[in-house]
Amino acid sequence: MPLVIDNPSAESCSLPECIEALAETGFDAQDPASTANAALWLRRLANNRSFLGDLLVDRLTGAGDDALASGYGPQAIILSRPRTGRKNAAFLRAAIWPSPRDHVFQTSGAASFVYGAPHDHNFDFLTVGYCGPGYASDYYEYDYGAVAGYPHEEAGLSFIERSTLAPGKLMLYRRHLDVHSQLPPESLSVSINVMRLDPAQGWFDQHGFDLEAGTVARWLNPNAGEAFLRVAVASGSAAALDYAEWAGRHHPSERLRLASFDARADQCGDAAEADALWRAGELSGSRMVAGAAAARRAAL
Ligand SMILES: [Fe+2]
Repeated sequence: MPLVIDNPSAESCSLPECIEALAETGFDAQDPASTANAALWLRRLANNRSFLGDLLVDRLTGAGDDALASGYGPQAIILSRPRTGRKNAAFLRAAIWPSPRDHVFQTSGAASFVYGAPHDHNFDFLTVGYCGPGYASDYYEYDYGAVAGYPHEEAGLSFIERSTLAPGKLMLYRRHLDVHSQLPPESLSVSINVMRLDPAQGWFDQHGFDLEAGTVARWLNPNAGEAFLRVAVASGSAAALDYAEWAGRHHPSERLRLASFDARADQCGDAAEADALWRAGELSGSRMVAGAAAARRAAL
């Protein structure tokens, strides 16, 4: 499960001080000194009991920085812009965790807040419980490198424990290792995160899991290329079909290779044609495509 970082400190800092300190040093979870430094600034910010309320009032009254409006929907409040180009760039956000008593929970449903949706992360982040009792999680670990990543593949999850992100508890979530299935808090809660921004993270998948079956359920990180390829092939363009045939064999992204097979399978006239296509997928040389292809053939 995420590493609990015990760094008690009575010092507090302002949001601009925290942003400036993180911009200077960044956050690299592979480097213990960098992690300890980022965790110290997160602790100091969490000790500041008024910064978040003040910031939200500024935004509500139009006095705040609208350019920082969240790109993550109403559940996340972006607190700082990442200084891209800097080594180990990181940014700050607040995550809001409604309880079943909250109107937004009742109208949008648990799934909109990822409760009961077990997942790993394709980025490292630090988190601290800021206010409210905090969400609970069932924590698991798994070996990302041993998993090809196709739906229904055995994930090898090991259950660690159920625990709560109580106020002041500070943890390091490790990418591709820590998996959690969250339960809503008893009342509205907020956590503050230091998020590592890694330009390479888009090439590594974030997985959703099926805990009952113990398998990978789906990819959670979007990949626009998959949709583009499927639409291009569905449009009937000869160039798109040529590209899809190349991508199915050679594209560096296994997800795009699989999307190529899916796109062409949609165009198959009958089950025999689809079976032949997926047979080629089984022999394509990609463990991920082969696993998905075997499942598709079994379903035909
Ligand atoms: Fe998560």
